[in-house]
Amino acid sequence: MRKLVVGNWKMNGVASDLAEIAAIAEKSLSYPAVESALCLPATLISRACDIAQDLPIGGQDCHIQPSGAHTGCVSADMLVDAGASLTIVGHSERRAAQHEQDHEVLAKAQAAHKAGLKVIICVGETLAERDAGNALHIVLGQVAGSLPQNISGDWLSVAYEPVWAIGTGRIPEMADVREMHGAIRAALVDRYGTIGNSVRILYGGSMNGDNAAELLAVENVDGGLIGGASLTCAKFEPILAAAQ
Ligand code: G3P
Repeated sequence: MRKLVVGNWKMNGVASDLAEIAAIAEKSLSYPAVESALCLPATLISRACDIAQDLPIGGQDCHIQPSGAHTGCVSADMLVDAGASLTIVGHSERRAAQHEQDHEVLAKAQAAHKAGLKVIICVGETLAERDAGNALHIVLGQVAGSLPQNISGDWLSVAYEPVWAIGTGRIPEMADVREMHGAIRAALVDRYGTIGNSVRILYGGSMNGDNAAELLAVENVDGGLIGGASLTCAKFEPILAAAQ
């Protein structure tokens, strides 16, 4: 299956960044063997879709309700209306800051799928959890609680993002990446049968042009969820090239 490389711009991106988004969209055409996308702040999605027709644009979260008295929130239907074709849910930054629980992440994923979006569900352990030897237990627990009991089609991907690697420049040992992605794969096959082999498992956490080839060569690493190294075309392109 094609590698999926998604940029997560987080709380970055205003109108003056649309030229960079257009450049990324143009450059992504040079790597047809890679499925790429950018997940942007909701405020920028419509304008990004207008200038980047060839690059799927997504959101970074969605409310579980389609509309209503939820001040400051954005529904999956609104993301679709803005032109989004995918969304992230359950990012560790939201799990921490918004105290999002697995069942809430699952409900968001189901709402996003119902609205017609592809979904990337994020999981990952903290440094304390890894240092305590609990990384596999924590992550597999998040997988069990955040993913639907059954799926059909190719709408779901999982992103393994060790929290301590996000924004730090640190990445796990390749043996640890292989172990975790293998465990997530086994959990997906156990739950979904053979379709579990086609659910892409992305790695996220300080992936960049220097380490992308090594990370993407690890078994069951089916792509990347990229933060800082997706903010410019110059930084994002080497990752697309490594995934080609
Ligand atoms: O969602 C991807 C993000 O958490 C990774 O961030 O800056 O470490 O690539 P970064």
